[in-house]
Amino acid sequence: MLLEDQLIAIRRQLHEYPEVSHEEYKTTESIRGWLTEAGIRILDYGLKTGVIAEVGGLRGGPVIALRADIDALPIQEETGLEYASKIPGRMHACGHDFHTASVLGAAYLLKQREDELAGTVRLVFQPAEERAEGAELVLESGALDGVSAIFGMHNKPDLPVGTVGIRPGPLMAAADGFVIEVLGQGTHAAVPENGRDPIVAASHIVTALQTISSRNVGSLESAVVSVTRFHSGTAWNVVPDKAVLDGTIRTFDPEVRTRVLARFEEVVRGVSAALGTTAELRWVKGPPAVHNDPALAKLTTSAAENAGLAVVEVEPSPAGEDFAYYQKRIPGFFVFMGTSGSREWHHPAFDLDERAMPLSAEFLAEWAKLGVDRFSTLQVGSRGGEENQNDL
Ligand code: NI
Repeated sequence: MLLEDQLIAIRRQLHEYPEVSHEEYKTTESIRGWLTEAGIRILDYGLKTGVIAEVGGLRGGPVIALRADIDALPIQEETGLEYASKIPGRMHACGHDFHTASVLGAAYLLKQREDELAGTVRLVFQPAEERAEGAELVLESGALDGVSAIFGMHNKPDLPVGTVGIRPGPLMAAADGFVIEVLGQGTHAAVPENGRDPIVAASHIVTALQTISSRNVGSLESAVVSVTRFHSGTAWNVVPDKAVLDGTIRTFDPEVRTRVLARFEEVVRGVSAALGTTAELRWVKGPPAVHNDPALAKLTTSAAENAGLAVVEVEPSPAGEDFAYYQKRIPGFFVFMGTSGSREWHHPAFDLDERAMPLSAEFLAEWAKLGVDRFSTLQVGSRGGEENQNDL
């Protein structure tokens, strides 16, 4: 079977059986099966779900990691595709099935030329990206110890097939979550003066939070504060004693992030106190911003060109991505692969053009190969002192 057909079949199988974060058991089993069939070494780092494997290393050399995320979302699919999800309420609505098949495809291509590889390519099939918990599990497992650089890719519906979006520096946002409990005092709706209304207080909090991005963040900076859930009350004639707000904050710059989070706490506590309620704020830890190492940009562009893809410089995305945790520990670069989709990530009708499948696999294989070449030159260079490290 042609590689393209094989990868599309793999992607469709994953698409039919999506599994959410930390529950990717069948997905893990399937990936292990596909790797084993291709004679690719699987490494045991004790992960409950997810797979670590590797190709190359026959002659020593550096280790470069290629990362795919493998989890799906708790969304009911509405694409009407013949290979739509067979699991109610579960969907690969972020295209992680595409990422998994792409890294597998790259592994197959690298395996064919394994004896030419000047180092090792470690394949990371990471669980639980959607909950931003998988990258840290992989790091804690030791699977990336000794890795010189890590590369990752996300599909991008608004980029056409045949293009790769590359951007040194910030690419995706820090994603902090919050839960606010506004505690008042319940009363009969007819005598609000006998209570302290948490709905009115929470409503003022929602409104006041909108001033953070408009009054505390500069015109050349950026931050988004979104309240996405507002729960309160049980009956039309009762003032409840509690209101709960959830939401998320997105920033790209660490200094802006610190300022926005501090301001957020002041607004929540201040407005709540002014209206006679108390607010309990809990942060839901999210990943920091994806920040691409500029020293790896040229190498990434060369890989795209070698794979016959057009390179475009993309705008940063306000979405979060736990690949950022890897970049805190080792040099890393993350790109967007054009997939000509008709819907954004996480939409129930999200889709992608499968013609991107073989291009993506070829690009990742080339990227890893160039990475291995470059870092093996650096290793030789640091011993011999002949190579210029500035030209990563
Ligand atoms: Ni995603």
